[in-house]
Amino acid sequence: MIIKTAEFIMSNSEVAKCPKDILPEYAFIGRSNVGKSSLINMLTNHKNLAKTSGRPGKTQLINHFLINKNWFLVDLPGYGYARVSKTAKKKFQKFITDYFEKRQQLVSAFVLIDLRHEPQKIDLEFLEYMGEKGIPFSIVFTKADKLKPKAIVRNAEAYMQELLKTWEETPHYFITSSTSAVGRDEVLHHINVTNQE
Ligand code: GTP
Ligand code: MG
Repeated sequence: MIIKTAEFIMSNSEVAKCPKDILPEYAFIGRSNVGKSSLINMLTNHKNLAKTSGRPGKTQLINHFLINKNWFLVDLPGYGYARVSKTAKKKFQKFITDYFEKRQQLVSAFVLIDLRHEPQKIDLEFLEYMGEKGIPFSIVFTKADKLKPKAIVRNAEAYMQELLKTWEETPHYFITSSTSAVGRDEVLHHINVTNQE
């Protein structure tokens, strides 16, 4: 798929205030600092469309980006960031779970996971939540440039084995790197195919 235009439309913390357009949308979620905003920039080929930072907790709101004037990419705040205030620290912020449970335009989510670490409890809990709510999602492993090819395959497979302890089947997954654009075509192809359904 060719991305011709990518525009920031709005940020907010209320699902009710998200764009009214009935256009398909794809949301990016995962632990703070896992690379959600960077992935959006990589996919759209824009350096600074979504704001990124080396410090976790950069994205704080629901951000809608209109692509090719007919679908949205949605950047969300991360979960699992210990240094946010106590009230905001609830495992998954309410406006994020509201987004997933109420946003009818959501076609599919991408749950981002950093392959360098052992499976983390908070990510497994989030995947469990998505499964329980029946929200369609794929896993996106990020920062592949930081691992050797063999380790990428080994860790991704280990992750799937971990999921199989509680899941009957494993979700589809992508291997990506925002610095080398690995996985770009695959993720865009997935969006293209599900967009037409
Ligand atoms: P929050 O908005 O805080 O939840 O974080 P985020 O998930 O949006 O992460 P963000 O895109 O801001 O990236 C966090 C840090 O990881 C930044 O320093 C990025 O440069 C770095 N980063 C993101 N993706 C990659 C990647 O594929 N490879 C490498 N090497 N670094 C990456
Ligand atoms: Mg972000």
